[in-house]
Parts: sequence; C-alpha cells; structure tokens
Amino acid sequence: MLQHVPDVLTSHELIEARRLISNAQWVDGKVTAGTQAAVVKNNQQLPEHAPEIVTLRQLVHAALNRNALFFSSALPSKILPPFFNRYSGQTNYYGFHVDNAMRMMPDGSAYVRADVSATLFLSEPDAYEGGELVIEDTFGRHAFKLKAGSMVIYPSSSVHQVSAVTKGERVACFMFIQSMVRDAEKRRILYEMDVSLMQLRQTVGETEAVVHLTGVYHNLLRRWAE
Ligand code: NI
Repeated sequence: MLQHVPDVLTSHELIEARRLISNAQWVDGKVTAGTQAAVVKNNQQLPEHAPEIVTLRQLVHAALNRNALFFSSALPSKILPPFFNRYSGQTNYYGFHVDNAMRMMPDGSAYVRADVSATLFLSEPDAYEGGELVIEDTFGRHAFKLKAGSMVIYPSSSVHQVSAVTKGERVACFMFIQSMVRDAEKRRILYEMDVSLMQLRQTVGETEAVVHLTGVYHNLLRRWAE
C-alpha cells in the first residue's frame, strides 16, 4: 500500500529543519546503500557524525509520534533513526533499487527489519525540477513529488527510484520502519478497517456494532502483531 501522509511537519518545524540542514556538510550517499543499490545511488547524505543530525531526528520522531495516520498505516514497532539526503548538481539521482531487508542501528546495537519505507519531503516541489520518487507496485509505477512537510510510505519490498533532479535542490528525510505486522496485505486490511471504524464512530457513534467491530480490529492486531 502506498500511503500519502500530509502535513507531517508543521511550518515551524519545516523552517527549523531547513535551517539545520542549510549549515550541514554532506557526504556521498553510498554510505548507507547495499551493494546493489550503491551502483545506482548518486546523491548526498548527512553523515552520522553531523552535529545537526540529533536535533533533526528528534524533530522528525516527535512529528511521527503524534501522527495517527502514520501509526495506523505503518503500525511501527521500531523506527531506524531517520536519514537525510540531497539531490542537486552532479549528485542528482538514485536509480531503481530495493531497500535492504535488514538494517543495523547506527550505534550497532541491533538489526531492524525494513517493512515500511518512508520519504518525508523537505523541499517545496517548485524548488527543483525532476526528483520524483517513483514506486512500482502491481498496478504499475507511481510518481510522488509532495509538498514540503508531507510524507509517502510504501512497502520496503517495492522497487523504486528518485528521478534525476535537473534543476534546483531536493532535500528529503527517509526512514525504514519495522512494523508490528510484517505482511503488507495484513497491514492494509487493518488500516482500512481502522479508517472505516473512525468514520463509523463519527457518523453513527459508539453503537454496539461499532464496539464489536473495534474488538475485531484489536483481535486481528493481537493475532498478527509480533
Ligand atoms: Ni530506497
């Protein structure tokens, strides 16, 4: 399931994120790519030792923690600390690849299984040309170029690319998430049920049937969550 999560960052957070990033020293993006991905990866990334990265990560984590749509669609159990990348000039694309299934925490403490990948756009779409995130699923290819502060989440198993940025600069945050529910189809069922239940609560209130259906949702989650 490809999910658009609008307005993850407030305008104030976006300004703060951009301010931090504007001072940053970037390195070659291949530092976090797997062997296959490294061949097609040509962008820049904030290194782990960048002084700005701690505050940037806190800012993104806080925004994710308060976002109900993100929670419902990703059902996060572990989130790898967010990374930040830049596409501009000669380092301006990331060809078709799949994300590694297992990712080591930056402090080397544990592996996180990437079930869900996310891109949080930090540059306004009119600040650059090209730079679409293109994701393949069974219905074909879908291109995303979202408003700054908005995010798209997609199964980490999807083949995807960032098209060449031919003008301007595209800065984004990207994340890998281990979900409580490993299977993408099960996550989709839970998400659709959760959204429908929220709508029912608004329209008919907490009727007996709504209470029972809420129980079904939680029982499925209990059955499927790891
Ligand atoms: Ni990727």
